[in-house]
Amino acid sequence: MWIRSCRMWLMAAVICLIGVTQAHAAPPPQVSECSSCHGNDGLGSASAGYPALAGLSSAYIVEQLYDFKHGTRVNAIMTSLATPLKPADRKALADYYAALPVPVQPEPTILPTGIGADIADHGHWQGSLANGVPSCASCHGAGGIGVGADFPRIAGQPQAYIAAQLNDWHNGARKNGPLGLMTAIAGKLSADQINALAAYYAALPANAAPEAKQ
Ligand code: HEC
Ligand code: HEC
Repeated sequence: MWIRSCRMWLMAAVICLIGVTQAHAAPPPQVSECSSCHGNDGLGSASAGYPALAGLSSAYIVEQLYDFKHGTRVNAIMTSLATPLKPADRKALADYYAALPVPVQPEPTILPTGIGADIADHGHWQGSLANGVPSCASCHGAGGIGVGADFPRIAGQPQAYIAAQLNDWHNGARKNGPLGLMTAIAGKLSADQINALAAYYAALPANAAPEAKQ
């Protein structure tokens, strides 16, 4: 008798545990509207220029969805998709994408060089054509892998996407972000520098194997 009831309790506990795990893993319902562009894995599409959302900070994603809705970041597709979202929807979607893994890739054996790499690591402070651009790595981290909740990963994002963001800040279509940092920086970049930086960061692995970074 004792053993039997104990078994029943055990079964109930297991069923409950399965239920909890499944409930936890269930994506928010709107995700089905997002996957066609951002992918089931949240890794976006390099060829179509759709950014990866996987592994970005939840706070950053929440902020972007809020900003698309309220017009400080403008994009026809995303503005219409973000407009019906309520705060709880934004949080659920952001938590879901932030928790998706970013596959580890080997770091390229030969790292890209040129204007993009130079500005990324050292900024553009010296020489007669210097325009006072700080190094991108000082905020986005070495290799553009992102730092904390506020400085997003840019490594491995589609080249066209990165260029579009820098152009949008340069032209005022994207006005968001803390302290206007990117407005000030992108405003100083020339078209050639924007293209070089976009090519550079798109070529870097979004998540490099630690041993490859040595
Ligand atoms: C039809 C394609 C499409 C669909 C569907 C779509 N997106 Fe997007 N998304 C885009 C494009 C294009 C951009 C880049 C916008 C820009 O250039 O500012 C983007 C950008 C974003 C960004 C900003 C990423 C960053 O790194 O700043 C977030 C967050 C986002 N989408 C979330 C979502 C969510 C959540 C859904 C579902 C509710 C969704 N998207 C559905 C195309 C799409
Ligand atoms: C002083 C800090 C700082 C520096 C330096 C900086 N950034 Fe940023 N960057 C930010 C912040 C903060 C954001 C997030 C903006 C937001 O919240 O919308 C951002 C966002 C971006 C994004 C958009 C990412 C996305 O997913 O949409 C790109 C692209 C970018 N930065 C490129 C660069 C490049 C290239 C450089 C070097 C020329 C650079 N940044 C230097 C702070 C910085």
